[in-house]
Amino acid sequence: MSAATQEYTRVAIVTGASRGIGKGIALRLAADGLDVVVADLADQKDPLDAVAEEIRGLGRKALTVSCDVSKEDEVQAMVDTAVSELGRLDVMVANAGISFAGSVMNAEIEVWEKCWAVNIKGVLFCYKHAARQMVKQGAGGRIIGASSICGQRGYANLGAYCISKAAVRSLTQTTALELREHNITVNAYAPGAIDTAMVANPLDEVHGAGYFVKQLLKLPEGIRTGQPSDVANVVSFLVSPKSHFVTGQTLCVDDGVHF
Ligand code: NAI
Repeated sequence: MSAATQEYTRVAIVTGASRGIGKGIALRLAADGLDVVVADLADQKDPLDAVAEEIRGLGRKALTVSCDVSKEDEVQAMVDTAVSELGRLDVMVANAGISFAGSVMNAEIEVWEKCWAVNIKGVLFCYKHAARQMVKQGAGGRIIGASSICGQRGYANLGAYCISKAAVRSLTQTTALELREHNITVNAYAPGAIDTAMVANPLDEVHGAGYFVKQLLKLPEGIRTGQPSDVANVVSFLVSPKSHFVTGQTLCVDDGVHF
């Protein structure tokens, strides 16, 4: 893809876009000149509509879609809606994710699987249906997923979440290899502690408010908390022509926790 020869406005989907990192990415892509489909759970309609209004205020087209990414038929419908309403799909940001804290000794598989349904299956469905559409279009594309520093190594009592984010890293490598011949790059971002509801809110009744961030605060002395814009800047690069030679990577956006 060359900006000089491109004759259409690129269209992006961002999942989990009603707040936090997803909202930051959606607004950044709009500022970069893309039309954006913002997707989230049905109960997030009001904040999602507000994000869409902000995007329109930046002079870009915006579309809101209710989508539970853990359900493949809803992800397929989201991609179909993007194409029917905005004409094409060039960028997929599979950002939606949920956190969960609990030890291995107390693991209840049904609960761990809820985390995996969103963080693993949800990302897989987004990669799959975006890839099918992009291959059909024949104009390349950019697919990006949400991993985490928790996918880089283990963190005590965050096993379900760590597994899910390591899976995104692995899935990203595999998908990148499969799509290389189609000029579609596939990368992930691995944030450290970013200042969003996920980090501020209680994860479970056993550990109480702030447990997740307390885990993260076991990070090395002096590591800072980032903002959604810090992740959005990296996604902006991954979507830009400058990153055409980068694929299969999970980029840590973490103030240097993992390198
Ligand atoms: P957040 O909790 O503030 O926002 C997540 C969004 O995803 C919400 O709008 C929520 O409604 C949506 N969502 C949840 N389940 C969904 C589903 N089944 N289908 C569609 N949407 C769904 O989280 P935050 O902090 O913005 O995180 C975004 C991504 O970044 C997540 O994948 C998270 O795991 C990852 N991440 C966040 C870090 C942080 O420090 N905030 C650190 C590392 C990774």
